[in-house]
Amino acid sequence: MEIWHIRGGNRLRGACFVQGSKNASLPIIAASIICPLKSELMNVPQLRDVDAALRILRHLGCLAEQRGGDVYIDSTRLSGSSIPHSLMVEMRSSVIFMGALLARCGEARLSLPGGCQLGKRPIDLHLAALRQMGAEIEEDAGEICCRAEKLRGTEIILPFPSVGATENIMLAACAARGETIIRNAAREPEIGALQDYLRSMGAEVSGAGSGSVSISGIRPNREAAARIIPDRIVASTLACACAAAGGDVELRGVDPGQFSTVLHFLNRAGCDIISGSRSVRVRSSGRLSAVGELSTAPYPGFPTDAQPVLMAALLRAEGRTAITENIFENRYRQVPELRRMGADVTVSGKLAEIWGVDRLHGAPLTATDLRGGAAMVVAGLAAEGETVICDDGHITRGYERLDMRLRALGADIYLEY
Ligand code: UD1
Repeated sequence: MEIWHIRGGNRLRGACFVQGSKNASLPIIAASIICPLKSELMNVPQLRDVDAALRILRHLGCLAEQRGGDVYIDSTRLSGSSIPHSLMVEMRSSVIFMGALLARCGEARLSLPGGCQLGKRPIDLHLAALRQMGAEIEEDAGEICCRAEKLRGTEIILPFPSVGATENIMLAACAARGETIIRNAAREPEIGALQDYLRSMGAEVSGAGSGSVSISGIRPNREAAARIIPDRIVASTLACACAAAGGDVELRGVDPGQFSTVLHFLNRAGCDIISGSRSVRVRSSGRLSAVGELSTAPYPGFPTDAQPVLMAALLRAEGRTAITENIFENRYRQVPELRRMGADVTVSGKLAEIWGVDRLHGAPLTATDLRGGAAMVVAGLAAEGETVICDDGHITRGYERLDMRLRALGADIYLEY
């Protein structure tokens, strides 16, 4: 159990480097096995999910180690194609190994993935696409077994631009005969990051970010490399923390364009936002205004992962904010906990209504999921008195030393293990 202690009321001041992206790292780690080669990844965050992915690689017979932000992988001796349930349950993104193992071994055996409990998280789009590429897939009691003598390139039209399905198809398509085209592909920056890494391996991939991605197989080079892009959700969280607590914070090493929707709403709430090419300065008086209507949507829309932390920043914003959550069905699990702090939030289906209150007070809370837990940290920084968050490791799954980063900015926060 991890226990976060936060004494709210301190303004945040100073500069802070933003970690590499978890959601970009995981598919790239999976991609490192699609052909036998060595990879060097830089700026990889030190997180439980990354560790879980590296343990999966080692289980499969690869060499995989992390030293600080550098990850070294040698997948030349990969010897297995099945991942035990105990490793799969640790993170949902482990489903990405399906496409990677199919590409490398022509088969993959794994169980249904774990991860945050955000409601139904089916993988039907992944399975339908792989079947379309010629994979035979059997599902039995949560176990999935995929086989493909030879995958074939084809046109796949996704009914929804799923991030994970787009990534899985890209990986499998590297080993397919002929060209694969994904229509209505996810356009998230992490798709572009995966494309860049696959290209460094020698694959021909193009179109990431446009909604139509083409992949025409791999010509393995000897070594692949990637510098992991900055984490736009961590950057959004730190920006929301500054907005909520008040202060003046410069986020360094970020790409402001990748979280411009979040910055737009913070600006609308009354923060000054000054964007540089690799930095953003957020200035907040701590007294914000409600932002009206806001809906989550696939990129380049407002990210569902930033919804809980922006909600937390707006709990004391004067007026009414209405949020519509369109991506996950159960993404308001933080709300009952925030209400314990005096927040006025009501939820009805996809809609959450926030009426700004004058004051929040510290309270004992329980983290519900990764971003919901981060929202509680943000709210705690803006509350009077002490907030104690009991967390079963959700927050540290996605945030690298969040307590230290916030403390360096002046927050009164510490994490007890
Ligand atoms: C990724 C991110 C996650 C983020 C999400 C949406 C990683 C490791 N995780 O998750 O942080 O919140 O994108 O931006 O990158 N769906 C189906 N069938 C499928 C696949 C998805 O119905 O086969 C639905 C899901 O239930 C969900 C929605 O599509 O409602 C979005 O899912 P998807 O884009 O696939 O998200 P993930 O890749 O799981």
